[in-house]
Amino acid sequence: MLRSTLLAAARSPQVRAVVESGPFDPLVSRFVAGATAADALATARVLTLDRLVTLDHLGEDIAERAQADANVAAYEHVLGLLGDAGLADRVEVSVKLSAFGQSLETDGDKIALEGARRVCAAAAAVGTTVTVDMEDHTTTDRTLETVRELRVDHPWVGAVVQAHLRRTEADCRDLAGPGSRVRLCKGAYDEPASVAYRERAEVEASFARCLGVLTAGEGLPMVATHDPRLIDLARRLGRERAVAYELQMLHGVRPAAQKALAAEGETVRVYLPYGTEWFGYFMRRLGERPANLAFFLRSLMSRG
Ligand code: FDA
Repeated sequence: MLRSTLLAAARSPQVRAVVESGPFDPLVSRFVAGATAADALATARVLTLDRLVTLDHLGEDIAERAQADANVAAYEHVLGLLGDAGLADRVEVSVKLSAFGQSLETDGDKIALEGARRVCAAAAAVGTTVTVDMEDHTTTDRTLETVRELRVDHPWVGAVVQAHLRRTEADCRDLAGPGSRVRLCKGAYDEPASVAYRERAEVEASFARCLGVLTAGEGLPMVATHDPRLIDLARRLGRERAVAYELQMLHGVRPAAQKALAAEGETVRVYLPYGTEWFGYFMRRLGERPANLAFFLRSLMSRG
């Protein structure tokens, strides 16, 4: 119930205006590197001492073409900086197609594909990769289709699948071909029971089945969870089947576990967002752990 409310608030322009009007909250900076590409690079430099990073320039559900172009340009800029800084072998980028115009009424898919192509070309130029985040279930088919088109020129483009969707085990079978990179996560959006498992145990069981498919496939499974039992399962399957895989976690979530896994020799990649449009991302993080909400509300009130 609380999670649904937070996820609905994440889509409210009014709530967003109030929350974003304040300074960068300490709780926000736990999850977000900062407002600028320079902030992102500074944090990435530290993280890459023992982990890999995927950078996310925050922004989603844009309403105007100009914002799509600005978001694409922001990725081109940060990829250039990564190349100059010599970090491109340890830092890739994650993109949301809704930030590139997918949700625009006219030609949204085409505009988003063009933008994503430009970002992939910029990534290729510096020698790194791109992973296409997955948003709510109404976009799944279009997003996977866009990934397929991008992979014609750039076979290393990563896809994301969400274990809470009933369709995902079948998607894993389709996606686990040679050279593929597939990030498996639980899913952060509030989805109806018609398309999604709603019970925690069902989501975990689906995640385990999807892990089984991906680790039996020919691509690189990217296991995106903080859930200790699922991380253990991924490690066990990886060992038994002798397949390479990545463990991926969000910046600010279980950082000690991230470091411990890296110290044990695991490949750990940190999802690191930056930018001023942090509201939707931040609200989804609160939705995952409502205990964070009390801290955040207290700090909002102390602003007044
Ligand atoms: P779960 O939420 O059960 O958490 C397990 C444990 O981790 C908790 O008990 C707690 O200890 C800790 N934890 C988890 N979230 C926390 C938080 N916010 N604050 C503090 N502690 C927390 N989703 C999506 O729909 N599309 C996408 O493209 C992506 N991409 C993505 C990339 C990466 C690298 C990660 C790690 C996650 C995503 N996600 C995502 C988000 C994902 O779907 C999911 O919402 C979160 O990872 C939380 O689910 P867990 O699997 O961690 O389990």
